[in-house]
Amino acid sequence: MARANLESGAITPAYHADVKQTIEILQSVLATEIVCILRYTMNAVAAAGLSSDAVKEEFDQHADEERGHMRKVAERINQLGGTPNFNPEGLAMRSASQYVEGANLVEMI
Ligand SMILES: [Fe+2]
Repeated sequence: MARANLESGAITPAYHADVKQTIEILQSVLATEIVCILRYTMNAVAAAGLSSDAVKEEFDQHADEERGHMRKVAERINQLGGTPNFNPEGLAMRSASQYVEGANLVEMI
């Protein structure tokens, strides 16, 4: 039965969610992940001061993790029949997370 349903894709009879609404929510999640990648990457580059090498590594690690999340969310949108929105135009408006540049390590953290 599972083999027979493989070709029906991600939306099976057992899928009871509103697909359009799910895709809209996932588009917001996708934008949030992208903004987090940008913020963590910027922090990794800009971090300066005592122990900044360790902090830079930490920010880079977070950016890598967020990239993994971004990829999974984008794949899921695609599976559901949507097109992942990677358009930078309006990205900050779609994101639930803000892009804020910290002036120092404490603000970045
Ligand atoms: Fe994330």
